[in-house]
Amino acid sequence: LNYTEPYRPQYHFSPAEHWMNDPAGLVYYKETYHLFFQYNPGGIEWGNMSWGHATSKDLTHWEERPVALLARGYPENVTEMYFTGSAVADVNNTSGFGVDGKIPLVAMYTSMYPVSQELPSGKHVLAEQQSQSIAYSLDEGETWTTYDAENPVIHNPPSPYGAELENFRDPFVFWHDDTQKWVAVTVLASLHKVVIWSSDNLKEWSLASEFGPYNAVGGIWECPNLFQMPIKGDPSIKKWVLVLGLNPGGPPGTVGSGTQYFIGDFNGTAFKADPASIYPDNKSANWMDWGPDFYAAASYNGLPVGDDVVQIAWMNNWQYGATIPTSPWRSAMSVPRQLSLKEVNGKVTLLQQPQDSWHSVANDQTLKHSWKSVSKGSTSLDSPGKAFKIDLSFADHDSDKSLASTFAIAVRASSDFKQETLIGYNFTSKEVFVDRRNSGVVSFDKTFASLYHAPLSANADKRINLQVFVDWSSVEVLGGQGEVSLTAQIFPEENSTETRLVSTDGVTQNVRLQISGMDSAWH
Ligand code: FRU
Repeated sequence: LNYTEPYRPQYHFSPAEHWMNDPAGLVYYKETYHLFFQYNPGGIEWGNMSWGHATSKDLTHWEERPVALLARGYPENVTEMYFTGSAVADVNNTSGFGVDGKIPLVAMYTSMYPVSQELPSGKHVLAEQQSQSIAYSLDEGETWTTYDAENPVIHNPPSPYGAELENFRDPFVFWHDDTQKWVAVTVLASLHKVVIWSSDNLKEWSLASEFGPYNAVGGIWECPNLFQMPIKGDPSIKKWVLVLGLNPGGPPGTVGSGTQYFIGDFNGTAFKADPASIYPDNKSANWMDWGPDFYAAASYNGLPVGDDVVQIAWMNNWQYGATIPTSPWRSAMSVPRQLSLKEVNGKVTLLQQPQDSWHSVANDQTLKHSWKSVSKGSTSLDSPGKAFKIDLSFADHDSDKSLASTFAIAVRASSDFKQETLIGYNFTSKEVFVDRRNSGVVSFDKTFASLYHAPLSANADKRINLQVFVDWSSVEVLGGQGEVSLTAQIFPEENSTETRLVSTDGVTQNVRLQISGMDSAWH
């Protein structure tokens, strides 16, 4: 693979060509991580939605595989598109799809029918209807058979919501051990409701409960994801986390799609959010990422260690997704993130850390430096190239004339610093920020050139810690212990590889910096 086109991500997954959106069907099986994704096999904009496929042994090095579910009737006459969904290994063959002792992988997805039709199952669907269907694979995800005898397995929305035929989608299915049942969470997108279903065999589903609306309801709800985790430091308590996409209506300062979460309990039937996770009057939300480019986050099924949760998100935004200046592909996935729960400032909070295997592409070009005090103005650094990982930490302070009002590292900067992306901290507002106003090509969308911010307080030793993953067209910032995340695409000139520190209005104290070069995961 070449993978050297302008803006081509070097250690993030992107398809060789064509359009990609949501990750789907993330499943770990026989020591392989599968990543399926919304894919247009015939174009660089959304359309002909199919499931693309990639596999990895470590979540960093990916191999793109043949399209797993090709839109029915493609290319002439598409009669069914395969929208976002999920996948499980049916190890006990509850579905009966397994033959000769082979374990079936079962995918559950939304069938979107562009035209009204009578299906092979005898069921009738209307134009633009969305229903939930299943397919299985007996060759470890390489080829798939749709369950035409009965599809769709969830034909219509629950009866009071019969009018929502066109807004009923995105099944996330998983095995619920306590009740020994399969659970699927879906959304009624326009009603801001999550609808939960349960099943013994992945084929027959019964309605279990509904949840919502709560918190952010600015746009429609999409891509629900539900999983359980212990609380760090108190492992006897396990909580459930419900993650939801919202489009449009992300965090303050963003335009377009965003991601929120709820923490609560789930008994196999109903999800109940903790009071601390709900804000009155739909005024606020628990934001999973405060940047513009983190959407449709989905977690892995089938991970070996019971308590591990790893998520991947689509690193793009419906606001401008179809106009980003990349070719011959559009969109990349986030760095896979390891999630955990911990009490931070008196509140149980979702923490994100990069999945460990990013170390496998870190090279030995490491820059390490510490300063008692970084002077006011700009401090130049050696160029780390176009793909690297930053660890930056410094002392927090209250306002003081001699001390900085903001401190930032500029990355992917031109030699005159007219072009740069700033990642830093505002000591007055106590916020981490990403400023991509001068990051490079921004004109393809009028909202792209913006500054994004997230609240972050200092850690116990009064320091601010930032980790930043920089690739050829993105920055991902994790603040503190990972309680805030900011993900943003950038499109700088190829030779914009300068880096500097910028301390505004005064000095910044006790600064420690490490930058590690990152190699391509594609060669
Ligand atoms: C979210 C989404 C899903 C849908 C898919 C279609 O990004 O709108 O709700 O299933 O994309 O491609």
